[in-house]
Amino acid sequence: MAVTCLELRHRDGITPILVGRGALQQAARELEDWLADRRVFVVTSPRVRQLQGRAIERFVGGAAVTQILEVAEGEAAKSLQTAEGLWRRMLVDQGKRDSRLVAFGGGSVGDLAGFVAGAFLRGVEYVHVPTTLLAQVDASIGGKTGVNLPEAKNSVGLLYHPRATVCDTELLTTLPVRELRSGLFEIVKIAVVSDADLFRRLEDDLGSLMSGDPELLGEVVGAAAAAKIRIVERDPTELGQRKLLNFGHTLAHALEAALSYEELRHGEAVGYGMLFALELAVERGLLEGEAERVRRLVGGLGLPSLPFLSPEGVFLRLQRDKKSRESGLIWVLPVAIGEGAFFSDFTPTEIAAKVADFLPNS
Ligand SMILES: NC(=O)c1ccc[n+]([C@@H]2O[C@H](COP(=O)([O-])OP(=O)(O)OC[C@H]3O[C@@H](n4cnc5c(N)ncnc54)[C@H](O)[C@@H]3O)[C@@H](O)[C@H]2O)c1
Ligand SMILES: [Zn+2]
Repeated sequence: MAVTCLELRHRDGITPILVGRGALQQAARELEDWLADRRVFVVTSPRVRQLQGRAIERFVGGAAVTQILEVAEGEAAKSLQTAEGLWRRMLVDQGKRDSRLVAFGGGSVGDLAGFVAGAFLRGVEYVHVPTTLLAQVDASIGGKTGVNLPEAKNSVGLLYHPRATVCDTELLTTLPVRELRSGLFEIVKIAVVSDADLFRRLEDDLGSLMSGDPELLGEVVGAAAAAKIRIVERDPTELGQRKLLNFGHTLAHALEAALSYEELRHGEAVGYGMLFALELAVERGLLEGEAERVRRLVGGLGLPSLPFLSPEGVFLRLQRDKKSRESGLIWVLPVAIGEGAFFSDFTPTEIAAKVADFLPNS
């Protein structure tokens, strides 16, 4: 498959998003002028550097000076201390307003590095190179960047769009299967609420996708990214339609918090969240026979079993969800495959009972 070039239109311009096997090579050519004569800071993690070091070197080969800045892998990278450490290193190392930054890693590296780029000297240009499936279809699209505070995840950040996003599915060949699956759950999510064709594609090709075929992944990442772009363009500031992307996330956030972000990968928590939302949809008489198709697809990806969790504890965390309103929680539910809608008429008693039914009881 040729590399596909998508575009995200936003308040500050247009971000090209190159998707597919070989996208990195093509992007290096297209960004030749952007890199030439510049100092380029590459933010990455030790694991990604070890596994994909040659790809990093090839990508930034055209820069005048390249500096690799390593941060801890995973969520630990998303802290103000890490951001401050990077800003100070960049100052000491002659970083200027026209220096460049490349975020080369999973969603954590991307969120941190985008934030670092957006605030350094009030903004240096950056390019996203997401290296996990989740980051390619979700975290790197839409311009949201940020770090965590001890009190809450993603509580400090900027909307700051990259110069380009490069989703090369060849980079996913070193990804552990659990991370690949975690990303596939997010693809199922976007398919259920906005793209029936993509949903059918996932049903047909799930086995090959789970084996990590870069060609096939390229096509599916392209479709999922295009679906996210359509939603983000309609609602750049997340006032309405963009909340469709929260399908499965209300319960997911509560489960992740109850498990201290340790036992489930984010996508797996979304998998459980989608199954829960499906129960609510069926209760409202939505979806009819189609609910089973969603259950089958989510089940086909394989979810690790949930440990015992107190239903009251999970319910309390649901109530605290930042997306909740005075009047109660808003649920994104599928009304058909490929179409989501918002529902806010579930009573707390109803939800508490559903949570208790849903969780394993020993
Ligand atoms: N900005 C947004 O709109 C947005 C949307 C969704 C999620 N996010 C954020 O994304 C983060 C999660 O991202 P993630 O799931 O990519 O997790 P992650 O960044 O923690 O990466 C997961 C693991 O994969 C490893 N890894 C990355 N690339 C690899 C590769 N090519 N080969 C082998 N290992 C590799 C990492 O070292 C890490 O251990 C969260 O912090 C979440 O808040 C942001
Ligand atoms: Zn998510």
